[in-house]
Parts: sequence; structure tokens; C-alpha cells
Amino acid sequence: SEADLEHLFDRTIADDARIEPRDWMPDGYRKTLIRQVAQHAHSEIIGMQPEGNWLTRAPSLRRKAILMAKVQDEAGHGLYLYSAAETLGADRADLTVKLIEGKQKYSSIFNYPTLTYADVGTIGWLVDGAAICNQVPLCRSSFGPYARAMIRVCKEESFHQRQGYELLATMMRGTDEQRAMVQESVNRWWWPALMMFGPPDDKSPNTEQSMQWKIKRHTNDELRQRFVDMSMPQAKALGVTFPDPDLAWNEERGSYDFGEPDWNEFTEVITGNGAANAERIANRRAAHEDGVWVREAAMAFAARNEETNR
Ligand code: 3HC
Repeated sequence: SEADLEHLFDRTIADDARIEPRDWMPDGYRKTLIRQVAQHAHSEIIGMQPEGNWLTRAPSLRRKAILMAKVQDEAGHGLYLYSAAETLGADRADLTVKLIEGKQKYSSIFNYPTLTYADVGTIGWLVDGAAICNQVPLCRSSFGPYARAMIRVCKEESFHQRQGYELLATMMRGTDEQRAMVQESVNRWWWPALMMFGPPDDKSPNTEQSMQWKIKRHTNDELRQRFVDMSMPQAKALGVTFPDPDLAWNEERGSYDFGEPDWNEFTEVITGNGAANAERIANRRAAHEDGVWVREAAMAFAARNEETNR
């Protein structure tokens, strides 16, 4: 009976075991997972744009090759996550239309422009660093396909973070202008990186239920704190500072105290009014519309193949 199925679902979650696509699940569980996994996938795909901006202007072949590999990885993460969403009954073409029509979100961080080359390093170091803080716990998410996708994503994300840090460390050993470029970039990306973790827990409508269903294993504020604690020693080693006068070690908490992000800015950005939202969506719409002929050709080829194989 439905009651037995619900009981089995609850027991599976309680035992920290995995829910698989063919298992019975509450409609709300399916719905919130499609929401989160689709938006995660959209984030990866849109995230290719800020970095892509520097592909043709990387200062060396090595830097260009690394950046090309990273941007291609993000595309792969997106496809992985759209596939995970499809195991829940979503359709990736439909999800793409929802993204383009502004009916689904993508990570706020990608609505900030990449103004200097140091941004390529800062994005790797801080944005992928924040993504790692957020994605490592998702490897233990209760929905099997999502958790398994995260294991591969996290391995590649670690490369992204290391190459970004190494790029900045190289610039910090360069000229005064390069050091100033790094610090200016860090000043622009620090607060938006903190906002990636979502609104404060007491303003997060999804966290409580997502924690109960073990979709999320930590709250937004817990992961944000973990990211600040992880980043401070790295900033010291790099020789940069973060633009937050309230950042200070708190001995009894064993963590850093830090200031409050600008949540009005966050709300503006996630409702589509950020610096680059319109541009990012226009680019995604153009790619989708210019790609109709590719999808039609692939379908025609598949149909003809089916004919000949019949
Ligand atoms: N950007 C855009 N929207 C955000 C957001 C952000 N940084 N943080 C929260 N929101 C949205 C939520 O989606 C939700 O709106 P919705 O109900 O329409 O979906 C609303 O704000 C309230 O937030 P909640 O905290 O209640 O929502 P969640 O419980 O879903 O928590 C989250 C938000 C922490 C982002 C969670 O969805 C999550 O962990 N998602 C998976 C991780 C992810 O998306 N990461 C993207 C990082 S970028 C990336 O990975 C690319 C990297 O390789 C560079």
C-alpha cells in the first residue's frame, strides 16, 4: 500500500541509504529535487560564459589550455546534472526553455562580469572553492543519481580550484600592477561568493525540508562559515585580504566572525536584475535558437538509423 511505500521511503532516508529513480518517493521530494538539480545544471552551463570571456585573451597557451579544459568540464557537469534531473521525470529541453524564460534560476555568482584576467584565477579559487564546499556534502545526498554525479564533479572541481589559486599565486609573484589586479578582483568576488550559499537559514524556505529528506546535509549558513574558515588561511598564504572589516578569528567559536552580505543585492540578482543577467540569458537563448538545425539533424539521423536497423 501507499502507506507501506511511504514507510519504506522514510526508513531508507533514516538509514542514510539512497533513494533510486524507480523507488516510490513523495511528490514534494521529486519536485524539490528537480528544482535543485535543474538549477544546479543551469548554473554549470551559464557558468561557462564568464570564463569563456577570457578564452581568446589568455596570456599564454598554457593558461588558454587550462581554461579551455575547465570550461569544457563545466559543460560536462551540466549534462551530468540534466541527466540526473531526467531520472526524476524532467525533460532537459523543457528545463532549457524554463531557464531561458526565467522560470528557473541559476547561481547568482554568474551574473557578475569578468572585468580583468585576474578574475579567471579568482573564480577558480573562490567560486569553485565555494562550489566545492557546497558540493562535497551533496555526494551524500539521499537521491542516488545526484550524489553519484557529485563525486565526479567534485574531483574535477578540485582541479578548477587549484588552477585558480596557482594562477593568482603566479601573479602575486609578478609586478605591483599584477598584485593590485589580483586584490581588486578578490575585492569584487568575495561577497558574491558568500552569497552563492543562499540566503541566511532563517530566510531559506527550502532548507528545513531538504535537511529532513537529507537532500541537503548542511544548512546555507553552516557551509558559508566552512567556506570562510577554509579561505582565510589561503588568502594569507596568497598575500591578499578580503573586503570585510568584521572578519576576525573568534577563539571560543574556533571559527572566523564575518560581516553580513548585502541581501538586497542578492535578491536583486536572483530575481534577474544583476549586472549580467540579461546578457547571460540572451547568450543562452541565442545558442539554443542557433542550435535548432543541429538538434533537427541529429533527430533525422537517428530516425533514418532506426529505419535502416529495423
Ligand atoms: N543563486 C541563485 N538562486 C539562489 C541562490 C544562489 N546562489 N541561493 C538560493 N537561491 C534561490 C533558491 O533556488 C530558492 O529559489 P527557488 O525556490 O525558486 O529554487 C531561493 O533562493 C531560496 O533559497 P533556499 O536556500 O531556500 O534554496 P535551497 O534550499 O535550494 O538552497 C542552494 C540553495 C544552496 C543553492 C541549493 O539549491 C544547492 O545546494 N544547490 C546545488 C548547488 C548549486 O546549485 N551550486 C551552484 C554553484 S555554481 C557551480 O556549481 C558551478 C561551479 O562549477 C563553478
